[in-house]
Amino acid sequence: MSTGLIRVYLTVHTPRYCTHEAAFAGKLAHPDFKTVRDGLLEQGRDVAAAQPDVLVVNSCHLVTTFPTVVDGTPRHQGVLTAQEAPELIHGVAYDFPGDYPLAAALVDRGRAAGLMCTLADDVHYPLDYGTVMPVVCYLDPAQRVPVVPVSVCLMADLDEAFAWGRIVAQAARDLGRRAAFAASGSVSHRLVRGPATWPTAEAQALDHRLARMLADGDYGRAWAWLPEYAAAAEPEMGGRHLAMMLGALLETGARFEATVHAYGPSSGSGNYVISLAAPGA
Ligand SMILES: [Fe+2]
Repeated sequence: MSTGLIRVYLTVHTPRYCTHEAAFAGKLAHPDFKTVRDGLLEQGRDVAAAQPDVLVVNSCHLVTTFPTVVDGTPRHQGVLTAQEAPELIHGVAYDFPGDYPLAAALVDRGRAAGLMCTLADDVHYPLDYGTVMPVVCYLDPAQRVPVVPVSVCLMADLDEAFAWGRIVAQAARDLGRRAAFAASGSVSHRLVRGPATWPTAEAQALDHRLARMLADGDYGRAWAWLPEYAAAAEPEMGGRHLAMMLGALLETGARFEATVHAYGPSSGSGNYVISLAAPGA
């Protein structure tokens, strides 16, 4: 069984998708949300089938200013109410394992590469809804897979985020982990008030072009195009999560098999659900 990066996920955390089926059924009423919701359920089935040793999550809502923070807490426990959506995400208990050795290895490698970074090891380190909700609602509802949250850093440019993606793939390989990486964020992200509002036709076309490159294994082309895409489509957090994802993919040197589960709107943003499986994994 191969080790290293076995899965890469582009996933979604917008509050209207991140609600428990029974408790919040009425709040997902708009039919345009159904496609992405179903895609996230499929993505969770892929995680269950792949059974990764660890899931590294780069959430656009785990935001740091100066260093990239890697959370190596051995057990992530807490109760989450989302600051900006307390009516949708409230009182969500989470309790899933971490992977301290992998997190420490990420920080060691980041420092060796001259990247500013900090290792957290603190049960009180708060997790954001972009990390917690995809994990507990869709990717691993049983909360058995160890999770290593990695922040999006405001002072990091796309190159630095890309370097972190490479480090994730390197460390997973060198530590013998069957690792999955999840980029938790929207693609185009020009927000408006109005939950069911779609991105403009122009932004949708840009999103579809990016997804096509991922599906075709054109990671190098996608990385070369990312600055232009980021300027035109204004992806969430400047596209840093996408840069990290592309760094991880390109570091493996492999062409992953893509499953494009869904694309849908949330308040003017575009949201792709895509699973990428390493060959033979
Ligand atoms: Fe977001």
